[in-house]
Amino acid sequence: MTRSEHTYPGDVRELYERFPYPLPTSAAEPIFDTAIGVDLAFHDLDGRRVLDAGCGTGHRLVALALQFPDTSFLGLDFSSRSISVAEELAGRYGCANVEFVRAEIGGTPLGRRFDVITSTGVIHHLPDPAAGVTWLAGHLEPDGAMYTWFYHLYGEYDRLLERRLIRLLADTDGDVGRLLGDLKLSLSMVRYGSDTSHSAVDDEAHLAATADAYLHPIVNAYEFDAVPGLFAEQFPWAVVTGVNWPDGSGTINVADWSDTGFGVITAERLFAEPGTRAAFLALDPRAQLHCLELALRPTGFSVVCGRGASLGWCTTRIQQSVALANLCRRGGA
Ligand SMILES: C[S@@+](CC[C@H](N)C(=O)[O-])C[C@H]1O[C@@H](n2cnc3c(N)ncnc32)[C@H](O)[C@@H]1O
Repeated sequence: MTRSEHTYPGDVRELYERFPYPLPTSAAEPIFDTAIGVDLAFHDLDGRRVLDAGCGTGHRLVALALQFPDTSFLGLDFSSRSISVAEELAGRYGCANVEFVRAEIGGTPLGRRFDVITSTGVIHHLPDPAAGVTWLAGHLEPDGAMYTWFYHLYGEYDRLLERRLIRLLADTDGDVGRLLGDLKLSLSMVRYGSDTSHSAVDDEAHLAATADAYLHPIVNAYEFDAVPGLFAEQFPWAVVTGVNWPDGSGTINVADWSDTGFGVITAERLFAEPGTRAAFLALDPRAQLHCLELALRPTGFSVVCGRGASLGWCTTRIQQSVALANLCRRGGA
């Protein structure tokens, strides 16, 4: 950290101008975790328009653009430095299907609508997350869907307390670089999944991740139960599709807890003992999801939501999940 970077960032934009995320250099490889999640959620994305709201340095957006060459993408961010890295990265990979705009979520509307909005690690940093969702929903076609990712409260609890401690100490000691060192706070690069999602990690990239984790002016973390409060006003359905934990991640198939497909979380993985597993399997799907978050204490989770005819171009797993465990439906499943 250079001398000028030692102070606590005044606001969210300043944080990302100083510490572009997820990787401050266009020399690093794209990160495919979101592209995989989107692929597992939607089929038939060819010809559709996707807004990546809060694209940061574009490592996840460029992976999306590479995975879906016949889909057009617009990356939006209010950090000029992040957008510059993202533009370089998209150029490096020859992505003709990506454009960028420097704009603010919650600011002047773009005057364009999209079929899908992806927004990973962004809404929980907004001053009013539900208002942010409303702003985003205003940029979605009536038959549109969203793919989002959030911090989970249970797995993030310790980190959020450490972040609060730094904030308090920074009131009387402006040298946050030294405070981070004294408190031995440094984010593990596998906190939200395996290291395959963070290639080419050098000191600068690690510092950006640590600043994002401990020096962020606004952080919210959620239980699955918070999903209706974020989405139900705008969307008739929303489902939790996957979770992350240190050095791992998994997808959720509420229709079949014995699904042994790659990366799917089975009932056996959650509860090794047959009696406990039987008790889990006897619960209704929304209670099963709550068991899952209590047992795994994830650090993050992904949510897919939608309206109109969008469910028709979601995968069978999402359709079944909506039928069984729609978090926007009042009164259980
Ligand atoms: C944690 S990073 C996530 C980057 C990327 N989505 C990813 O998952 O790798 C959050 C990004 O959201 C952007 N951001 C936060 N609030 C914003 C707002 N109100 N308008 C536009 N961008 C915003 C930040 O500049 C930052 O690049």
